Amino acid sequence: MTIANPGLEGVVVADTAISDVDGERGHLVIAGADVEELARTASFEEATARVLAAGAAGAAGAAGAAPAAVAERLAAARAEAWELLPRLGDALEHEDGMDALRTALAHLRAAGGTSAGGAASAASAADADMSAALRAIGAGPVFVAAWSRRRAGQAPVAPDPSLGQAADYLRMTLGRPADAAAVAAMNAYLVTVIDHAMSASTFTARVIASTGSDLLSALVGAIGALKGPLHGGAPGPVLDMLDAIGRPEHAERWLLDELAAGRRIMGMGHRVYRVRDPRAAVLEAAARPLSSARLELARAVEAAASKILRERKPDRPLAANVEFATAVLLDAVGLPREQFSATFAISRLAGWSAHVMEQRRTGRLIRPASVYIGPRPAQGGGAAA
Ligand code: COA
Repeated sequence: MTIANPGLEGVVVADTAISDVDGERGHLVIAGADVEELARTASFEEATARVLAAGAAGAAGAAGAAPAAVAERLAAARAEAWELLPRLGDALEHEDGMDALRTALAHLRAAGGTSAGGAASAASAADADMSAALRAIGAGPVFVAAWSRRRAGQAPVAPDPSLGQAADYLRMTLGRPADAAAVAAMNAYLVTVIDHAMSASTFTARVIASTGSDLLSALVGAIGALKGPLHGGAPGPVLDMLDAIGRPEHAERWLLDELAAGRRIMGMGHRVYRVRDPRAAVLEAAARPLSSARLELARAVEAAASKILRERKPDRPLAANVEFATAVLLDAVGLPREQFSATFAISRLAGWSAHVMEQRRTGRLIRPASVYIGPRPAQGGGAAA
């Protein structure tokens, strides 16, 4: 009898050069670099160039992923997205930032897609993918910042091509240049979460790409997958939890009540990590210069949650994932919590794009199987009663 594996744990669907998660030891490698090193030393533009080059490796479009070219093309893409704002209809009126980003991105013109038809068209499809990727990665921050300001009853702020993505994103959101510490923290965040192996949203993007569909469709689908609270929707609720707990000494009681109500503790647990998510320490280090009062509270709540979950589930290690540190960092740089998930998405657009390109080069139509458990037609014809 075939037994379904509904979570696909341990099922390997791709060889990838983009990132590697070692869940037992708590290591994350992004295109050949440790996440700790990359977050400390690379700009978001450099990290984007790195993952896109890994995804395109050797394909025609790979030349477009040189770091200087990426910075220039992202700045141009931000300007292009700004021009598009008046033509987005009611996309930015969505209550939810992920819905706004999904709808706004869908306004970009799709290009690329299936490369059936020889080497020349494969080369032009690879170029089209690279160019669509850079247009989408540049557009994301413009759309999300404009959505956020609209929500707050403020006019959108035009992008500044002289700035990097991190600085410009903060500036377009806050309506003023952010200070150097905030820009550095924002940059570290965008680099840290740029890719994470076969996450649910990345898998979604690869499934869509595997059918020969266009890169933009894959990104839009991936945003839908990232939106859920089990994946990218957790950092806002983590901040709500920290607010509700208020003081370290209240943590244990609050967490026990939460579990008694049958709810999960946001920011704890991961499908792959059996130890603390290495990105948590990276983001804590990046947030420290911002001296957020919430950092200490977050550490205390994490410690209490770890202890309680260890007692309850001794056989299933449940450590902190990336979301405690994300919530603290994004709050400290001045973003409203409703903008957290969409901020995650504007970084991951780069990783998804790289995976789409890699899937096209090396993958195959992704089409798993299911076990039918419904009724069978009655033998001898005629519908069952
Ligand atoms: N709080 C309480 N219990 C948790 C938990 C959490 N955050 N995460 C997992 N568990 C429990 C489950 O209830 C399950 O218990 P059971 O076997 O008695 O039903 C057990 O641990 C195993 O969990 P499972 O659902 O198999 O883990 P998963 O790999 O499917 O889930 C997550 C991974 C991330 C979806 C899960 O840990 C979670 O929901 N975390 C909270 C949301 C979050 O922080 N998301 C951001 C992820 S980066």
